Amino acid sequence: MSSTIQKAKQVLKNNWKEGFTIPCEGLYPFQWFWDSGFIALGWAHIDMKKAQQEIRSLLNGQWKNGFIPHIIFHNESDTYFPGPEVYAASLSKNSPEIPTSGITQPPVTGFILEEMYGIAEDKEDFLTFLDEVYEAIYKNHEYFYTHRDPEKEGLVYICHNWEAGTDNTPVWDFIWETFKVPDYQLDRRDTKLIDASHRPTNKEYQYYIHLVELFKTWNYDDTLIAENSPFLIQDPLFNSMLMASNQSMIRLGKLLGKNSEVKQLKEWNEKAKVSFQKKLYDEVQQGYVYYDLRNQRHLPYLSSSSFTPLFAEIPSQITAEALVSHFRNGKFSGVNHENFLCASFDPSSEFFNSQKYWRGPIWINLNWLIYKGLKKYNFEAEAQRIKEDTLYLINKYGFYEYFEPNKEKNKSLEKGYGGTNFSWSAALTIDLLTN
Ligand code: DGY
Repeated sequence: MSSTIQKAKQVLKNNWKEGFTIPCEGLYPFQWFWDSGFIALGWAHIDMKKAQQEIRSLLNGQWKNGFIPHIIFHNESDTYFPGPEVYAASLSKNSPEIPTSGITQPPVTGFILEEMYGIAEDKEDFLTFLDEVYEAIYKNHEYFYTHRDPEKEGLVYICHNWEAGTDNTPVWDFIWETFKVPDYQLDRRDTKLIDASHRPTNKEYQYYIHLVELFKTWNYDDTLIAENSPFLIQDPLFNSMLMASNQSMIRLGKLLGKNSEVKQLKEWNEKAKVSFQKKLYDEVQQGYVYYDLRNQRHLPYLSSSSFTPLFAEIPSQITAEALVSHFRNGKFSGVNHENFLCASFDPSSEFFNSQKYWRGPIWINLNWLIYKGLKKYNFEAEAQRIKEDTLYLINKYGFYEYFEPNKEKNKSLEKGYGGTNFSWSAALTIDLLTN
């Protein structure tokens, strides 16, 4: 077994906390929704029971209406802001006993379960587990299509930048300029733990906290949020994750004989596929972009999210070719391949920042999604390139949270960016090296 896999396993073991895995010591000391999915996939290669426990622990935080919050505060910690008292999720009539946040994250669990099923040696035993959790995940999809799709077009909205996962992409700058925020007292811990220049600014955090404060005044009521939230976005990454999970839930549902769920999931997914292509594809940019539902406009900027529809098999082969051109001698690769793939924001843009969180650096989970997506369309050369770039960065620096895309700058760097011993970087490296 390679020493990289050994080191990756050690990261997961160190971050395991009695039933769930923290993304990173200090910086993220609780369980996060989409992290838990990628982490469960890593565990599935090592210890299937822990992988299953990771999913069960996530579902302990599920709300009565099917909503899954982005953080489950299983434990106490004073190294993170904003904590459970800021979210005050109990204001919602749907919240569970356990403290959670009041916003969600990309719904990856459906396709992660299918990946786990593929890895499981004892398929019968896995199907028993699947039967236990299937309805909860189905209810989560039902929540999205019932409460997050006001125009009933098959595309769901996010109402907070932290729901996107791509927390501070430059795309949000154009939303922040549409409203004003008070000057909140911020008790940030992240900027004390790691290089503050790699994190969002305090001004950005004012917006993040303001949105939570608004949701609290509406007791997290989805109808009020849809009517009033200044942040209401149809996100290509989020919807791709939901659609890929729909498709996995259809295939897994057939194994379990869940006929009515399978029928409903197919209906949602077919509608979604048509609207996604019509509404989120930007002909000028030759890629998928965010749609600002509140202000009824495209936000025409390319990011790593623009390529994730490949993972959900949304584009036609012709559209997929257009996407991949950005990796050949295009914007993301650089004309002379001067960048590793795949920067989180268009490197040719004036808003690109190669070191700052989601404004440019490479993230391992997005690379994993794009790698898998490229393989689905038989773009073997590009898939191998993104895999090699990912493993090069991991082998050079270790399991950082994010990485510098520019090859020249990497020559003199000694570290990755953000947190270290980051769980999904380790988990997905195990998967990349095992498949
Ligand atoms: C953070 O605190 O940066 C998280 O990404 C929010 O979920």
